[in-house]
Amino acid sequence: MNKKIRLQTLTLWDFPSQHYLREQEHAQNYKGATPSYIIWNLLQRYTRPGDVVIDPMCGAGTTLDVAKELNREALGFDLNPTRKDIKQADARKIPIEKATADFVFIDPPYSTHITYSGKENCIGELEATSGEYYTALEQVIREIHRILKPRRYMALLVSDSAKKGKPFLPIGFNLFSILSDYFLPVDIIAVTRHNAKLLRNHWHSAAVEGNYFLRGFGYLFIMYKMGKGETPGKWLDRRASKETQKQLDSFTIKKKNQAGFCNQPQ
Ligand SMILES: C[S@@+](CC[C@H](N)C(=O)[O-])C[C@H]1O[C@@H](n2cnc3c(N)ncnc32)[C@H](O)[C@@H]1O
Repeated sequence: MNKKIRLQTLTLWDFPSQHYLREQEHAQNYKGATPSYIIWNLLQRYTRPGDVVIDPMCGAGTTLDVAKELNREALGFDLNPTRKDIKQADARKIPIEKATADFVFIDPPYSTHITYSGKENCIGELEATSGEYYTALEQVIREIHRILKPRRYMALLVSDSAKKGKPFLPIGFNLFSILSDYFLPVDIIAVTRHNAKLLRNHWHSAAVEGNYFLRGFGYLFIMYKMGKGETPGKWLDRRASKETQKQLDSFTIKKKNQAGFCNQPQ
């Protein structure tokens, strides 16, 4: 790891750059890649070294890169694999035995905002105005529930949709409701979006002229699969004590040689 990062502690995460690892720079060219800081924070909080992390919609492979850097085992799938270590699979039918994963991360397409492979089964081809989009994502969520071990966590990143001249689609709220049918909510994080397009002045003037808002944040839903006899609220803390201690140390004020820890890249 080339920078010391420490854990986010608020429910608002704002990362001014997309990635913290050189290995992830290839993902800069992948439209819709997940900021690696998000996955780093999740793996630090909800997994320990050696855990099996699965991403059923792996895209550029950010989850694989972060998991490898943190010594977790990672399995990546995508309808349209971009590299050899990502296997071809539809997220509605993941070729994995039930209760295999210690953690699942997924960043699904939100409506038709980005054209991925254009393949027939690509969920990014389905408008979130249709029930079809939610039916497809419910199948994915059910599949995640199947492959996740009990007493483990999963996280889903998504954004609402508001296109000019089209109705506002509260995709986040709708997906959270589906997720809650399968898992217990742990928390909801708002992640600031840093889309290059948001820097363009005419986008902002158009939003004022048309009296609508640009998407400033995405939702990160953190969910838990309960084990038998577990009480909500008293969930398993899966962290390795050494890693937790390191994170705690990063919050301790040091007088001499103050460590250069940062919540965000400098
Ligand atoms: C937002 S991107 C994922 C980004 C990824 N986390 C990364 O860091 O690059 C969404 C991905 O979902 C994939 N996808 C869409 N429909 C799918 C399906 N039915 N099964 C598996 N993957 C699918 C797309 O090919 C695309 O790579």
